[in-house]
Amino acid sequence: MIIGIGNDHSAVEYKHEIITLLTSMGHTVINYGTDTTESVDYPDIALKVANEVAAGHIERGILICGTGIGMELAANKVKGIRAVVCSETYSAKMSRNHNNTNILCFGARVVGIEVAKQIVTTWMSEPFEGERHQRRIDKIMAIENQ
Ligand code: RB5
Repeated sequence: MIIGIGNDHSAVEYKHEIITLLTSMGHTVINYGTDTTESVDYPDIALKVANEVAAGHIERGILICGTGIGMELAANKVKGIRAVVCSETYSAKMSRNHNNTNILCFGARVVGIEVAKQIVTTWMSEPFEGERHQRRIDKIMAIENQ
């Protein structure tokens, strides 16, 4: 899969550990995040990755800031995006199985790197189950056209 990754200044080294993991899983990773600790605004990075996912240029996105919250809020403003912030693997799994999330967010100041790797591994491998869940997602996405 082609994955876009983005981060703010709170997650530079952390982001590189996630890139290493994704690459070792055989994915191609495009880095849209910052690589310095100079302060940046997370919505700018979330928007870049979310736009690329929404346009179909990349298949999924991973966004990391201090808490993951700001990245999730910003990404979900983009039409076609279903972003989730996760701090544990159960939610990461269910967000794929039931919600077909296309962007995963987490907080480098909240989630330790080893747990983050488990969250990413789970989120990357779990399938969307379709059927009744697709109907519910269609209802969510229809809200974008109100
Ligand atoms: C930056 O200090 C911090 O606000 C950001 O990384 C993130 O946690 C926002 O949601």
